[in-house]
Amino acid sequence: MPKVIKSISVAVKECQLDHYKGDVLIAGLFEGTKRVPKSLTGMDKSTGQSVGNLLKLGDFKGKANETAVLYNSKANFGRIILVGLGDKKKIELNTLRQAAGTVVRLMSKMDVTQVGMAIHADEAIKLKPELMGQAISEGVMMGRYDYLDYMPVDKDEKTGPMKVTLVEPDARVAMELKKGCKIGLILAQGQTQTRMLANTPGNEINPPELGREAQRLARKFGLKCKVFNDKQLAEMKMNAILAVGQGSINKPRLIMLEYVGRKGKKASPDVVLVGKAITFDSGGISIKPSLNMETMKYDKSGGCSVMGVMAAVSQLKLGINVTALIPAAENMPGYSSYRPGDIIRTYSGKTVEVQNTDAEGRLILCDALAYGAQMKPKAIVDMATLTGAVVVALGQHHAGLFGNNDSLMGKVKDASKASGEPMWIMPIGGAYLEMMRSKMADLKNVCGREGGASTAASFLSEFVGDVPWAHIDIAAVADTPEEKPYRSSGATGYAVRAVLEYLRSF
Ligand code: BES
Ligand code: ZN
Ligand code: ZN
Repeated sequence: MPKVIKSISVAVKECQLDHYKGDVLIAGLFEGTKRVPKSLTGMDKSTGQSVGNLLKLGDFKGKANETAVLYNSKANFGRIILVGLGDKKKIELNTLRQAAGTVVRLMSKMDVTQVGMAIHADEAIKLKPELMGQAISEGVMMGRYDYLDYMPVDKDEKTGPMKVTLVEPDARVAMELKKGCKIGLILAQGQTQTRMLANTPGNEINPPELGREAQRLARKFGLKCKVFNDKQLAEMKMNAILAVGQGSINKPRLIMLEYVGRKGKKASPDVVLVGKAITFDSGGISIKPSLNMETMKYDKSGGCSVMGVMAAVSQLKLGINVTALIPAAENMPGYSSYRPGDIIRTYSGKTVEVQNTDAEGRLILCDALAYGAQMKPKAIVDMATLTGAVVVALGQHHAGLFGNNDSLMGKVKDASKASGEPMWIMPIGGAYLEMMRSKMADLKNVCGREGGASTAASFLSEFVGDVPWAHIDIAAVADTPEEKPYRSSGATGYAVRAVLEYLRSF
């Protein structure tokens, strides 16, 4: 597990902004602000009008995620950081989430420990205080995470404690912020858990090791955990998971995590979560080109997301039962690999002709989905870095959302809006499913390139029976080479908070 974690905490304090004592006070400003907003006038006075002066000089435009650091010797805090909130008419929770992440990243090389934050304070913001508290604490956590395990820690990189305090003069608002903050921290910690796991390279995390990580997580968060090894998978006839994993010396696993939050004797899950965990996807015999192949350590992101969700579910103490299934395999070429032409009798009994060993995600998922569907849950949600085609279709700004039930997809989509991790509904079935028929088995694992995200999802749909099911293809969004002002590059944990919002609304 991670060796370097940058310490962070978030609390709420009822207090006038100018009474706050600490190393820095942070305020938000809209684009085009000409005069110091009412919420900041007292604070501005105590610093000798530093904000007012800056606005007069016009160096700060207030564009989203723009920042300015002001120094003063008069106030209880030696610095003010202003962060831009963009267009006043377009303010939403995600603006605040990103603004919070942005200032936290900006401060990572400053010598600050006590951080007062009041980016929610402008009287023009009409968002619910509880939701603002949640979004801001999510942003703080998101901004604070970097993958540093193998980096010589930069002397200037402050990993020591950063104590963020949301400062709010109104007692009632402070209460609401506090409520939201509690939830935001749990959701964001789940997401950070996912990012830590997903960033860990393939030489450190292989399927058995991921199983051990799940056991550690289960112990820490009070979940039940069962890890099926390759022998047990053979007894269970999980032949698709076994086929994908057979080329690696690191044998496949099926990880099961259970959370029981609902009283009553029927312990069956309300929701089954399934996550693709290919700890490294070389493509197998249908080997991938070497350019960017290193990013295929992120092919376990769906499984890592499900693990992060489960950690948070137990912290939230939700009153539902959730079971997670994480099929884990390493897709490698070798003398014992599965091959193009192989026909697999999958766990469901359906047969699949392998035409490309690089389309392995749908294979491990089909066994896990069929196993999950047998539990007769009210819903199955899977997360997977499934297709390059969804990267082409939607790019970095939406995950692909597919499924067999409009109401379930609608709920997941709404949850994704709330969490600021947008998803876009895409079609399955019909002609897309027909494209996946084989001449010698029930299905084949690939067809032509056209509609590749929808044909892959249609393949999966054959394994869930009539259980309401949603599939989130996170191939484009689970990792990114691009650093943003509000978060580091690498694993993003995209959709972890969205799935948690869905479960909270269940
Ligand atoms: N893990 C990949 C999908 C992927 C591609 C994830 C790019 C992240 C970024 C998956 O196993 C895969 O290789 N899919 C193939 C399927 C094809 C052979 C039908 C793809 O999308 O190219
Ligand atoms: Zn692949
Ligand atoms: Zn893959």
